[in-house]
Amino acid sequence: MSKILVTGATGFTGGYLCKRLVKDGEQVVAFVRASSNTKQLEDIGVECRVVDIRDPESVNDNFNDIDRVYHIAAAWRSEHADRNEFHRVNVDATRNLLEAAKRADIKMFVHCSTVGVQGDINEPPADEEYRFQPGDHYQETKLEGELLARDYFSKGLRGAVFRPVGIYGPGDTRFLKLFRPVKKGTFVMIGSGKTLYHMTYIDDLIDGIVLVGTREEALGEVFTLAGGEYTTLGELVNAIADALKKPHPKWRIPFYPVFLASIVCDRVCRALGIEPVLYPRRVEFFYKDRAFDISKAKRLLGYQPKVSLEQGLQKTAKWYKSQGLI
Ligand SMILES: NC(=O)c1ccc[n+]([C@@H]2O[C@H](COP(=O)([O-])OP(=O)(O)OC[C@H]3O[C@@H](n4cnc5c(N)ncnc54)[C@H](OP(=O)(O)O)[C@@H]3O)[C@@H](O)[C@H]2O)c1
Repeated sequence: MSKILVTGATGFTGGYLCKRLVKDGEQVVAFVRASSNTKQLEDIGVECRVVDIRDPESVNDNFNDIDRVYHIAAAWRSEHADRNEFHRVNVDATRNLLEAAKRADIKMFVHCSTVGVQGDINEPPADEEYRFQPGDHYQETKLEGELLARDYFSKGLRGAVFRPVGIYGPGDTRFLKLFRPVKKGTFVMIGSGKTLYHMTYIDDLIDGIVLVGTREEALGEVFTLAGGEYTTLGELVNAIADALKKPHPKWRIPFYPVFLASIVCDRVCRALGIEPVLYPRRVEFFYKDRAFDISKAKRLLGYQPKVSLEQGLQKTAKWYKSQGLI
């Protein structure tokens, strides 16, 4: 029986994807790092192979029985991370996997990009054709990886790209930075609160990824995969407060003084070699619109997000509570 390779299987999205593929009766192989925690994957029957995806030989040696790939692994943005490592993971490893896939003449290569390749969205909602404007080396290397994949697809490798948007749900901890202050009643909105924000509940994203991986209509295409609704940041924090049964946050401070403070803080911390508590990208979250048009995925793939923001936030809050995180 042919096998499906998932990279990034030990992460949030890759882990959910593996669970779904196993449930669908597929045989799943994960390329993992020696340092990765693979227990949950092994428990559900995923075959974990220690493969350094940055090494072409290691990738090739483990590709014989693979006929579909979901390439989810990525070096994530982390302030002050090694720029070269972003390139090695997000570009070089992508090339190694594409090359091995081409050689093995596989049935489908699904490449995970990010809407971050489009940077600031000046005319929301943005569709797949909206211009590129990556804003940091994570986004730059994700764009390079996406364009590389599209180049292979245009030359005959069967594949498609998806770009997720603000993934959340049980298992993710990135949105704790919104849930925690809302729960404690210490949340302060920086700026007007009218900036647009778009979230994607993990189960909806997984449905979308599987559609990209299995529908002929996806071949050679790029899809933005996001939730069914976007809101203002003000509406989002109120919805989080509702999920936590807490009052709606009321405090606001103007954007620009905080933004300037973040620049100073970032520079001082860089000079001292310490992780900044406040940095421009964190503050820009309150200023830059992020809203996306998912009509292409709906039209070509029948993608239809099922989990409302209200339901998704409730499930996430419940999980945070069960883990003692809030
Ligand atoms: N989360 C979002 O809101 C969002 C939005 C847009 C796009 N995306 C994209 O979605 C994908 C998944 O995101 P996520 O949030 O689920 O990520 P995540 O939980 O941080 O997982 C990242 C995965 O990549 C693996 N990885 C990192 N460096 C690696 C390396 N050098 N070699 C092999 N594997 C490596 C990690 O393995 P270890 O377990 O060994 O660390 C982990 O399995 C990424 O491609 C990301 O760019 C995410």
